[in-house]
Amino acid sequence: MLASRSHTVAAMTKPGTLLSGLTEGSPLPQLALVSGTGSLGADLLVVGTVAGSGGLALAPGAGLADTALGGRLLAALRAVDAGGRTDELVKIPTLGLLDVPVVVAVGLGKVADGDGLPALDLESVRRAVGSVVRTISSARRVTIAIGDGTDPALVSAIAEGALLGSYRFQHYKSGATPSKLRRVQIVVADPADRAARATLRRARTIAEAVNATRDLVNIPASVLNPVTFADYARRRAEAAGLSVEVLDERKLARGGFGGVLAVGAGSATPPRMVRITYSPPRPRARVALVGKGITFDTGGLNLKVAMMAQMKSDMGGAAAVISSVIAAAQLRLPVEVTATVPMAENAVSGSSYRPSDVLTLRDGRTVEVDDTDAEGRLILADALLRACEDVPDFLIETSTLTGGQLVALGPSTSGVMGSEDFRDRVAGLAAVAGESVWAMPLPPALRAGLDSPVADITNLPKERWGSMLVAGLFLAEFVAEGVEWVHLDIAGPSFANSASGYNARGGTGAIVRTILATLTDLAGG
Ligand code: BES
Ligand code: ZN
Ligand code: ZN
Repeated sequence: MLASRSHTVAAMTKPGTLLSGLTEGSPLPQLALVSGTGSLGADLLVVGTVAGSGGLALAPGAGLADTALGGRLLAALRAVDAGGRTDELVKIPTLGLLDVPVVVAVGLGKVADGDGLPALDLESVRRAVGSVVRTISSARRVTIAIGDGTDPALVSAIAEGALLGSYRFQHYKSGATPSKLRRVQIVVADPADRAARATLRRARTIAEAVNATRDLVNIPASVLNPVTFADYARRRAEAAGLSVEVLDERKLARGGFGGVLAVGAGSATPPRMVRITYSPPRPRARVALVGKGITFDTGGLNLKVAMMAQMKSDMGGAAAVISSVIAAAQLRLPVEVTATVPMAENAVSGSSYRPSDVLTLRDGRTVEVDDTDAEGRLILADALLRACEDVPDFLIETSTLTGGQLVALGPSTSGVMGSEDFRDRVAGLAAVAGESVWAMPLPPALRAGLDSPVADITNLPKERWGSMLVAGLFLAEFVAEGVEWVHLDIAGPSFANSASGYNARGGTGAIVRTILATLTDLAGG
């Protein structure tokens, strides 16, 4: 039996202690494999529809419902104008013809169906299943029959869609309506298949990591500050049996982390740097993870004039790498992973750092502060320097770094920059994992903009063009020679302003699936 305990922050947090004000969240539904022959025992049966070349068509797996309804499912759906479009959700009562009272037909969108059966796109399935689970209110048990039940990748996508779609953040809602969903059954050819069962366990681990990341982003900055965030990271990591080191402000000063200290200086809560290591026997590679942990970004003395309310999400990179190193351990991946996570609040006060200040970083290099709102790269420079002291083979850094990412790629496509081969490999793995990530260049010509008249480098050029790429060039300065690395800018993707697919409004847990797919690949698949 699969464990149904949720590892979300809420579940890890006793009210009034670590992150006060939170109560326990609703647990993830149980996942099970069932065959299409026995009783379906559910309140809803979910099938897929597609917008094929000849209009509405049933996706593989829908035959079950169709047969029970006397072959009239397609006609019934056409009668209510179903088109198989993405995000379309049509309910058909089964009038006692099936032991499930309602069939939900969910649109999977346009598909290539030239030679017979439609080819299902995994991310469309993930989203479709996610939107069903996210929007249903009364069902306790749901059975999903999408695909012919023999493709493990499709089973995995269904499971992930269901678990991600069941996420809700309702801790501050009086009269919250917790989801009634307790069990999700996936129709497969052979429910006893060991590989399929392992697929479900893996999907659950991944979804728990994504959901924990969402919680961390959703918790307001009045509760999640550098100190409580570091405490949380320590607790989670220790519970997973990993080694943890938390550098407080004294240790940061002794270690020469001038970027982290300066950015955190204006806050009532001091900065931290958390280091978590998962070290399995005989690792196939050594990987460093680095994530930006700005618990709130006011902009500092260069106070923000736009999007400030979204800036509780400015620790989305930190949350993603903390969740990922823990999930890597739960998945027992044969790679050594060390997460280095700088945490600070970019606040306004008499002790804030200023434009024109010169900071001295971990390795003695100096940075002129041209703009206190370009704070992420300052704490990341220190963290990258520290991470490279361990001489990793690969380094994955992720951050809600620039508004330029939103300008260039929009709200839901992350930019990836870095060593070209590794960059393209990560972009490819992201596509398979179902995340939209696009490779971007680090044009050498833009580097000159970072030259400073007073220090070794400035944190912001005078020219604003290509600001996502310039930020990547800044970070590149602090990655050691010989380390294969990527920078993933998730400024937009880490936060959704409206619900869609498997995402609720708020934190999305962006890039966790890509990081885990990359770690799995580096572990040898
Ligand atoms: N945290 C922001 C980037 C950001 C913007 C994240 C929008 C999520 C949504 C970052 O610290 C920042 O403020 N970047 C500025 C820098 C500015 C001084 C040029 C930017 O890129 O706009
Ligand atoms: Zn900023
Ligand atoms: Zn920021």
